Amino acid sequence: MNEVNSAVRPVSIVGTGSYLPERILTNEELEDMVDTSHEWIHTRTGMVERRIAAEGETTSDMAAEAARTAMSSAGVEAEDIDLIIMATVTPDMPFPSTACLVQNSLGVKGALCFDLEAACSGFLYAMETARGMIASGLYDTALIVGAEKMSAVTDWSDRATCVLFGDGAGAAVLQSRAGERGILATSVGADGSLGELLSIPAGGSKTPASHQTVDDGLHYIKMAGNNVFKHAVRCMSEAGVAALEKAGVGVDDVDWGGPHQANMRIIKSISDRVGITLDRFVINLDKLGNTRAATAPLALDEAIRDGRIKKGQTILSIVFGGRFTWGAPVVEL
Ligand code: ACO
Repeated sequence: MNEVNSAVRPVSIVGTGSYLPERILTNEELEDMVDTSHEWIHTRTGMVERRIAAEGETTSDMAAEAARTAMSSAGVEAEDIDLIIMATVTPDMPFPSTACLVQNSLGVKGALCFDLEAACSGFLYAMETARGMIASGLYDTALIVGAEKMSAVTDWSDRATCVLFGDGAGAAVLQSRAGERGILATSVGADGSLGELLSIPAGGSKTPASHQTVDDGLHYIKMAGNNVFKHAVRCMSEAGVAALEKAGVGVDDVDWGGPHQANMRIIKSISDRVGITLDRFVINLDKLGNTRAATAPLALDEAIRDGRIKKGQTILSIVFGGRFTWGAPVVEL
């Protein structure tokens, strides 16, 4: 930490990692659970299968695994990390923070650790927060993690939601490194006025958990998918265009787009509206479904590891989430 240096400095993603549970849940298996079909799921969403955490496997377990890989790819040790931000809507428990549980797992001492809830945009909100804290010179090495155990908050009898989500974790290490431009610009925002189209209604202070809330299934995710869809397309496209403008980067100079993995039809609309051809999008929703805060880092890590995204390339990530939040960073890797 350097509390004296207040100069703004560039911030780079210096390592990524991810973790996926072994269990694969296919569309065909869902046909045996609810009134649905592979054809409906695939046509309407693009999804074919998703991962489901093992019995007893927690969000913090998955987050710590992804974090270890990110730290190793960044070449940093536990003692280097002075900031951990954990983005999730499925924390292990209301408190303590999942960030502190991950810190303990990793053997990190004395870092600032907190959870951040911005629905599916949580990882990009974490990136924006860590960017500011490193750019200011107050912190040097941030570990940011997006991890979800959506299977724990899914109503497996609700066909409108249970086919959509998956479990997993992705992580990144951020630092300021000499000669690197890193995160060039971001467009990040929220609009809390847009109704309760997507929420877990009970379990908080407004409607505390009770026998009644459990009987009514209010501890499960609820989504008015059709309405969310329209907002998602508009907000993600606008955020993507705004981020590119701020960065001074043209669409043809974007090597890879990293869209939120919620629906293939949304991704196609964004491709049309932003002007980045579909072959330049990293898409893994067919294999992983929607892992909410984990979608952005999972896609990034996958494409770095399989060699699609290369050092020095420019990436536009665009994510949209509940009630509503969005984030779109332009990053030179
Ligand atoms: N299998 C078969 N039929 C189904 C299923 C299913 N799994 N789910 C819904 N249906 C039925 C509905 O009951 C409805 O039937 P009806 O016409 O007889 O009433 C019909 O299919 C059409 O339902 P819609 O909800 O209109 O279907 P839509 O084409 O909108 O697809 C979906 C639903 C996939 C959820 C889509 O709306 C979507 O992806 N929404 C956006 C989600 C999103 O953007 N999320 C991103 C941000 S939030 C986040 O990531 C959590």
